[in-house]
Parts: sequence; structure tokens; C-alpha cells
Amino acid sequence: MATLLRRSCIMAETLIRLNEVGRVFRADETETHALAGVSLSVERGEFVAISGPSGCGKTTLLSILGLLDSPTSGEYLLGGEAVAGLSPARKAELRNRSIGFVFQNFNLIGNLTALDNVELPLVYRGLAAKERRDRAAAALARAGMSDREGHYPSQLSGGQQQRVAMARAIAGKPLVLLADEPTGNLDSANGSAVVGLLGELHREGTTICMVTHDPDHAAAAGRTLRLFDGRIVRPGFPARPGGARNGS
Ligand SMILES: Nc1ncnc2c1ncn2[C@@H]1O[C@H](COP(=O)(O)OP(=O)(O)OP(=O)(O)O)[C@@H](O)[C@H]1O
Ligand SMILES: [Mg+2]
Repeated sequence: MATLLRRSCIMAETLIRLNEVGRVFRADETETHALAGVSLSVERGEFVAISGPSGCGKTTLLSILGLLDSPTSGEYLLGGEAVAGLSPARKAELRNRSIGFVFQNFNLIGNLTALDNVELPLVYRGLAAKERRDRAAAALARAGMSDREGHYPSQLSGGQQQRVAMARAIAGKPLVLLADEPTGNLDSANGSAVVGLLGELHREGTTICMVTHDPDHAAAAGRTLRLFDGRIVRPGFPARPGGARNGS
């Protein structure tokens, strides 16, 4: 996983690779094939949009990419290494250090201020208190939320809460940012601001996978993967060999 944690890279390099990944959920008598043989690759530094109708498996896919869930079949290689072979502790460490999440419903902790919400994931990294504070404050500034550091989520608008959630994701300087309909609950101005920030992070080298229903927002990404009934219906791979930006 040394490769994964190395940030700078000149040549195109596959960061995420799924081979025939399936995810079956069993509840009562029902078996749902949320993912049915998904193969895709994402290069380091790519910005990929994922779209498709409700229930087609987008959140399931993002959960697997973010090591929150595991495939029931197939293989996931992250930085060239099979995720199935990692210990739970190593997975948790990778999730904390290398992956940032942004959710549709913000997922902020209600009894913590904006600054404390952003700082929390850094606590698990064992960073010194001052560095945590500095990083959290810088991330909030980046998201245009410095003037709301002491506010609680209930005192913030939806757009502001999502900007705090973005700050929380970027404070850890993740290698991969996974965003599940980050603009789904926002008006168009706030939605565009969030996508604009994702675009900036992408230009700085962060690899981004963003689920979105909005074609305008998907256009900010280099390519769009389309899912239908748990399958990729548009190519899961960059179009040019070694090329990262103008796929499918
Ligand atoms: N924990 C679970 N138990 C049983 N079935 C599940 C579970 N999670 C997801 N599913 C099923 O898997 C399928 C894919 O769900 P998923 O949440 O990935 O869809 P989605 O594309 O994100 O949809 P939406 O656009 O509505 O968010 C759905 O049919 C859903 O009911
Ligand atoms: Mg979903």
C-alpha cells in the first residue's frame, strides 16, 4: 500500500480497480443484486461522476469503494492491493487517512460545532491538538465557512452544512474523495458551490468519485459512469490508454 499513500505522480496510474464486483443483499425472502458484475477503473487524479436511476446501486458502489462495505463476489484493488486481504484495522486506517466522504444528508454531529465536526476525524489520527485545530480551521476557510466555526449544525443552512461536511472531508487531505449526491439537498447556487470546490480539489490532484443525478454537475467530471440494475452501462474505464480526463 506504499504506492497508495504516495501522493505525487506524473504517469497515469490506476488507483481503483474493480473486477466483476457483485454485492448481494439478503433480507427476509428477498435477494437483491445491488451490484452485478461491476468492472471499472479510476486513475489517480481522475474526477468521475456516477449516475443512474434510484436503486441501481450507486450508494452500494460508493460504500464498497470507501471500504464501508465489502463485495460478495469479485475483486477490489486499491493502489494495486487486494482489499479483501487487508485486516480490519488496516482497512479502518485507510478509511481514516486516505478516503474522505461527503453524503447527501451531510451527516454532521448535532452537538458539535462546525469546527469540532471538522476536527473529529483528525482526532483518530493522533495529531497534536494545535495541528488539528489549524487544519480544521483552514479547511473551513477553504469552504468559505470561517465565520461559522462556532455554529452548531442546526444553526446552519443546508448549503452551509454541506460546506462544513466538505471541510471535514478535505481536512484529512484524502487521496480519494467519495461524494454521494452531495448536491441532492441543495439549491442550485449552493450545489454549484459544492461542485466548484470539488473541481478545485480535483485540479490539485485529489481523485474524486461523485454520485449525481444532475447532468450539469456531472459535466464537471472528466467522465460519467452510468449504472443500471447493478451494472455499468457506459464504459467503466478511461477512454484513452493511460488518459484520465476525457473518458466514455
Ligand atoms: N442494507 C441493505 N439491505 C437490503 N437491500 C439493500 C441494502 N442496501 C441497499 N439495498 C438494495 O440494493 C439496491 C441498490 O441500493 P443503493 O442504495 O445502492 O441504490 P442507489 O442507486 O444509491 O439509489 P438512490 O438513487 O435512491 O440513492 C436497492 O434495491 C436497495 O433496496
Ligand atoms: Mg443512493
